[in-house]
Amino acid sequence: MAVQKGILIVLEGIDGAGKSTQAEILMNRLHERGYDVVYFREPSEGKWGQEIKKKAADPDSLSPEEELDLFLKDRKENVEKNLRPALEKKKIVILDRYYFSTIAYQGAKGIDQKRIRRVNEEFVVEPDLVFFLDVDPREGLDRIKNRKKKDRLFERAEYLVKVREIFRSFRGERFIHIDSSKPKKEISAEIERIVLNYLIGVRL
Ligand code: TYD
Repeated sequence: MAVQKGILIVLEGIDGAGKSTQAEILMNRLHERGYDVVYFREPSEGKWGQEIKKKAADPDSLSPEEELDLFLKDRKENVEKNLRPALEKKKIVILDRYYFSTIAYQGAKGIDQKRIRRVNEEFVVEPDLVFFLDVDPREGLDRIKNRKKKDRLFERAEYLVKVREIFRSFRGERFIHIDSSKPKKEISAEIERIVLNYLIGVRL
């Protein structure tokens, strides 16, 4: 199944909201229907993304401004190396986190949200659809606590309350807020329905 233009679909949400699971299900569903679909994530696999992951092991090693700088460098590389080429080939790109994460996470650390938005809008490709998987931070952290270190969980939960508030403040036609405490299957069906509906308008 071909589309008239590249389509960028973004999944956002706090840690443990279920983005990666939903990204995989959506990939499979679109693939089964014959669409040419690729998956990327931020932080990316590139050199800046690797650096971010290394530094994330020690949460206090970077100031908020330094974090912002690294996420921007990683995003610039991801946009040029991965997103633009795939979109030029009229693929459907599913992206796990994008600049809304920077507005929310670095914004929650006190950096001016308008400034974060402005510096991103200078170079990003704008997405077609953005899904925000919304979950209570305690529930999200419960889901991932087996995967990650349990220390400083309370501090993390307090921070994620702020991050969530910022995610919830995004409003507009392309932004879709999904209650991620619902069963996984209901969420994937809802996302699939909205995406397929959007694709009807851009199919060849
Ligand atoms: P990610 O690898 O998506 O972690 P997870 O799968 O556990 O959600 O992201 C790593 C962390 O980076 C996550 O806590 C969110 C944070 N982050 C930012 O703070 N700013 C950003 O711009 C991005 C893309 C991620």
